[in-house]
Amino acid sequence: MPGLTLGDTIPNLEVDTTDGKMKLHDYIDDSWTILFSHPGDFTPVCTTELGKLAAMAEEFARRGVKLLGLSCDDLLSHVEWIKDIEAYSQSKVTYPIIADPNREIIKQLNMVDPDEKDSSGAPIPSRALHIVGPDKKIKLSFLYPASTGRNMDEVMRVLESLQKASKHKVATPVDWKPGDPVVISPNVSNEEAKKMFPHGFKTVDLPSKKEYLRFTNVE
Ligand code: BEZ
Repeated sequence: MPGLTLGDTIPNLEVDTTDGKMKLHDYIDDSWTILFSHPGDFTPVCTTELGKLAAMAEEFARRGVKLLGLSCDDLLSHVEWIKDIEAYSQSKVTYPIIADPNREIIKQLNMVDPDEKDSSGAPIPSRALHIVGPDKKIKLSFLYPASTGRNMDEVMRVLESLQKASKHKVATPVDWKPGDPVVISPNVSNEEAKKMFPHGFKTVDLPSKKEYLRFTNVE
């Protein structure tokens, strides 16, 4: 994904949303924020994605996370579409959705689908998703094509991984799930690890005898 990428500060754009005009930094404030884009209103995959996020919004809120959608149609269209999303998902859409009829926001947020255009030849958003930290920097980005709906349970999983890594000097190994052991970052010495991880840690004995694969548990 050229343009906005990991570690970049999200631009403080003024956006029009279903909850009114806002500046992105004001909305993020000091929360984690998931900013997700969709190719268009009244499309099947998008309706299922926004519905799932509506159903999961409380779970995200419990983790200190705000949601912010974007679809390039106008606000009037979003307001009508939300009725379908709520009927389909049986959940209230409590998060704002940005309107971007001029396709300026998607360019600045690196959310343009390089392959898809609408009937007038204008660019449309990909299924992009940025997880933005409380410091307003991008911590993770997904870029999916229009044909593939995202797995929102995976979004929750990576969010929990990011939050763990931001609190402790740890990383999450392959197929990690919340509650599983984590690995200690390679730049932490064994001496430091003994002080840092009160539950102790287990070092895997490897042929190299290098003690870099160390598992521990953290809250
Ligand atoms: C959809 O959300 O279903 C969709 C949108 C654009 C292209 C293909 C599918």
